Amino acid sequence: MSTIRTAITGLADMFAYPLRHSHYLELVNPLWTRHVLMARVVNLWDETSDTRTLMLRPGRGWRNHRAGQFVRIGVPIDGKRHTRTYSISSVPASEDGCICITVKTVEGGRVSGHLARHVKVGDYLPLGEPQGEFVIPEAVPVHPLFITGGSGITPVMSMLRSYVAEYEVIPDLVHMHYAPHALDVIFGAELAQLQASQRHYQLHKYYTRANPDAASVHFSAAQLEAACPDWREREVWACGPAALLDAVEQHWEQAGLARQLHTERFHAREVALPAEGIKEGKVFFAVSDVQAASDGCTNLLRVAEDAGLNPAHGCRMGICHGCNTKLVSGCVRDSRTGRLISEAGETVQVCVCTAVGDAALAL
Ligand code: FES
Repeated sequence: MSTIRTAITGLADMFAYPLRHSHYLELVNPLWTRHVLMARVVNLWDETSDTRTLMLRPGRGWRNHRAGQFVRIGVPIDGKRHTRTYSISSVPASEDGCICITVKTVEGGRVSGHLARHVKVGDYLPLGEPQGEFVIPEAVPVHPLFITGGSGITPVMSMLRSYVAEYEVIPDLVHMHYAPHALDVIFGAELAQLQASQRHYQLHKYYTRANPDAASVHFSAAQLEAACPDWREREVWACGPAALLDAVEQHWEQAGLARQLHTERFHAREVALPAEGIKEGKVFFAVSDVQAASDGCTNLLRVAEDAGLNPAHGCRMGICHGCNTKLVSGCVRDSRTGRLISEAGETVQVCVCTAVGDAALAL
């Protein structure tokens, strides 16, 4: 059967040359294409005043995600395609074949603002494959502990929902969640419902700005001991803002238990550089024949975009490798580790690298 299908596809491609028949299918229904994966927005709703869930129906070629994974979404704005990554908040392999992403509007964030305010039901968005290692194992982990902050709840929501969908019960699980105020808790009503109906699910919420006169409430050893006295025996999944994850990582490292901790960051962690390590220069994008000035601090993806280029990219934080290119000459620095890359032909992740003086890239 597949041989016949392949033969028909080959014949159709012959008549469609120089395009492929898939390009013509795209005109009829973008979800039928094979050369690019598309998703249709089939529903959307607000979770909080600045957070919206988009329900997407992926087209042909989509493979189911694992709870906790993220996906790349293309967002066309003013004729230019921007790409961002979002955690999938829905269960894997849902019966309706749809997935959900939950987008929080970032202050000054053009793409998140566009997705959360302007995308409509019926719009089509380019979609990537599900990616990421921040997942729960196939077998139910023993006594998990979830620590989340703000929109860091989204991958964990997929995990909670998949426990219920697959086993009907959530295992012995402690969940510490941080939000500025009670009204900012994304999926607040559903979490409360889980807390009421699942007797092994222990939810602890912390409002970091509930009392403007008091000091901010952040993750602390005392909170952890009170919420989860047996935390040393648990495997941990943590996702949220950098300050929360830094504190959690430090705590588990000091306890010698870093191997039990899985974290997912919104932004790459960067090492601080001494001022003399920063060198201004010129960056030459060899394929595009474009030159741009670099201040030595701005990542090369941003330098390229500011110069009018639109390089392929995904997560913008060093995870997906969607922005990989090659160094042609000069020197760049990986801002996560401080490592210098100066061999021509070496791979450069432009979203997390800065130029050290002059550099040329195969972009
Ligand atoms: S955009 Fe994902 S690694 Fe650079």
